[in-house]
Amino acid sequence: MIENPRGRAGAAVIERLDAASFEEQLPALAAVLVDAVDDGASVGFLAGFDVPAATAWWRARSPAVGAGGLAVWVARDDGVVAGTISLAYADKPNQRHRADVLKLAVLRTHRGRGLARRLLAAAEHTAAATGVRLLMLDTETASAAESLYQRAGWHRYGIVPAMAADPSGVPRDCSFFYKTIAAAGR
Ligand SMILES: CC(C)(COP(=O)(O)OP(=O)(O)OC[C@H]1O[C@@H](n2cnc3c(N)ncnc32)[C@H](O)[C@@H]1OP(=O)(O)O)[C@@H](O)C(=O)NCCC(=O)NCCS
Repeated sequence: MIENPRGRAGAAVIERLDAASFEEQLPALAAVLVDAVDDGASVGFLAGFDVPAATAWWRARSPAVGAGGLAVWVARDDGVVAGTISLAYADKPNQRHRADVLKLAVLRTHRGRGLARRLLAAAEHTAAATGVRLLMLDTETASAAESLYQRAGWHRYGIVPAMAADPSGVPRDCSFFYKTIAAAGR
């Protein structure tokens, strides 16, 4: 658990979920994802994505969480799961130093309080501590998330036009980012 260093988000804590907590938190994780889609975020789903569908999507990640290939964090504020982020370790033998940052989302009711920044920092910290030296992600161009990654020192290396549709079905440009990270403790 990582305490809030800046005090911006009240009593919120960032917590990595073990396999059992992940199972317990499936409905809460689903609610965060559905809230993002309802808000128009391009996070892989189309309008109509509901809590049962989102719960099933998260549940399909359970084996990866149990095996350690997928790390999932939540931001918990007063008992409410207010945000999440995932780190997927590359499984190719020649890319064991690499991981992808996935599914960063914060409930609309809890945005603008530094939770996403803290979730991202937690994922980066664990990545460094587990030998990852290269992180990658993609996000909708000109989104709030793009600003977050740029401010967090990520490098945008390209934009693919009309790569993924937003929830209403409109194709949106996608920005691709990487960040190299130093070994933990250096
Ligand atoms: C992107 C998202 C996770 C940001 O969550 P958040 O907790 O509100 O973000 P933070 O409060 O930690 O903000 C950190 C930085 O992000 C950027 N940011 C956040 N919201 C922003 C907005 N509405 N417009 C522009 N920049 C924004 C800023 O650079 C901010 O730094 P600053 O406060 O120093 O200006 C949230 O808007 C969200 O869940 N969006 C929908 C899902 C999504 O698009 N996820 C990205 C998938 S790759």
